[in-house]
Amino acid sequence: MKQVLVTGGAGYIGTHTCVELMAQGYSPVVVDNFCNSSPASLDRVRRLTNHELPSYEADIRDTARITEILKKHNCESVIHFAGLKAVGDSVAKPLEYYSANVMGSHSLLTAMMEAGTKRFVFSSSATVYGEPVFLPYTESHPLSPTSPYGQTKLAVEQMLNDLVASGSMTDVAILRYFNPIGAHSSGQIGEDPHGVPNNLMPYVAQVAVGRRTELNVFGNDYDTPDGTGVRDYLHVVDLARAHVLALQRFEREPGAITVNLGTGQGTSVLELVKAFEAASGRPVPLNFAPRRSGDIAAFWADPAQAESLLGWQAEYDISDMCRDQWAWQSQNPNGFETT
Ligand code: NAD
Ligand code: WQD
Repeated sequence: MKQVLVTGGAGYIGTHTCVELMAQGYSPVVVDNFCNSSPASLDRVRRLTNHELPSYEADIRDTARITEILKKHNCESVIHFAGLKAVGDSVAKPLEYYSANVMGSHSLLTAMMEAGTKRFVFSSSATVYGEPVFLPYTESHPLSPTSPYGQTKLAVEQMLNDLVASGSMTDVAILRYFNPIGAHSSGQIGEDPHGVPNNLMPYVAQVAVGRRTELNVFGNDYDTPDGTGVRDYLHVVDLARAHVLALQRFEREPGAITVNLGTGQGTSVLELVKAFEAASGRPVPLNFAPRRSGDIAAFWADPAQAESLLGWQAEYDISDMCRDQWAWQSQNPNGFETT
């Protein structure tokens, strides 16, 4: 069995990736400090897959503990999701973001050196590009993040590029995610944000299920077809699959790669709301509100490199994403606390 350390494996993308890893013959081992998740999500993964899933409550900044876990499980690779991800919060608390994301990654990579673990997949973000100079963003678009969160992602990318250049690590996949939404089609795992959701899709789903009264649409005067923000939403299961493909590529062809993960299609806020109403059969009342500070009008990915380097293409469309988000939201109106 090929053991993979999955940091942040109890979170939204991590749980879905554990399921896909198991389906492809990998054995994930999870490390999470549960600052934005709970052990309940891992129990759901165990139940859904009927597979063992070793997990440790640990912080990636605890280098000695992570080294010990890597050695104990003889991990040959690491998929690194652990970190903080709320853009607005990162503006208010930059040091927390640099600590968790940059120092955390540094500590994890140090543990890998110590344990002799050589393969690394990193969760980066389209947010590293900043204000579009051209669209769709290709991987060679200038990098100019506009928030501390985005700066931390870019700093880790740079750390990885320097490590590769030094010869200390050869197999590195930097994956720049666009906007992951949706859930496993069973409705057993999904995104469970604490408090008021920052992101569009969980907010829409909570309105549809009756937890919130209406959606605030942040801006309807953008230079986009209907005036609302346009993003490249991709199904979280498609995203999870790309991580498995990255590990499979290392086996075939060692080296470092950076790829966008998006569908290549832009969808506006109003289009997403409409698709969600159709998928759920529930109304999503909305209210036009001022633009959210720091938002970009529109961006989407050029995913060609993901196809040529990983053989990855998105399989699900917006209606699939809405259907599966609704399966999760309607079966678990209060997230993992429901049961
Ligand atoms: P998430 O918050 O659901 O998952 C992150 C997990 O990491 C959580 O379970 C949290 O408890 C854990 N964690 C945080 N700090 C930790 C630490 N110091 N030590 C150990 N565990 C820690 O987020 P997600 O949506 O699953 O995102 C996963 C990764 O993908 C993040 O790095 C995020 O920045 C990146 N990303 C997410 C998106 C998105 O829209 N969801 C887009 C681009 C990139
Ligand atoms: C999408 C659209 C909003 C909420 C963020 C991070 C990015 C990545 C994904 C981690 C925008 C509009 C939203 C609401 C709304 N995360 N909106 N009402 O801003 O593209 O990306 O999450 O890496 O780094 O920046 O995603 O889902 O917040 O917003 O009208 O209540 O929905 O203005 O046009 P975003 P989002």
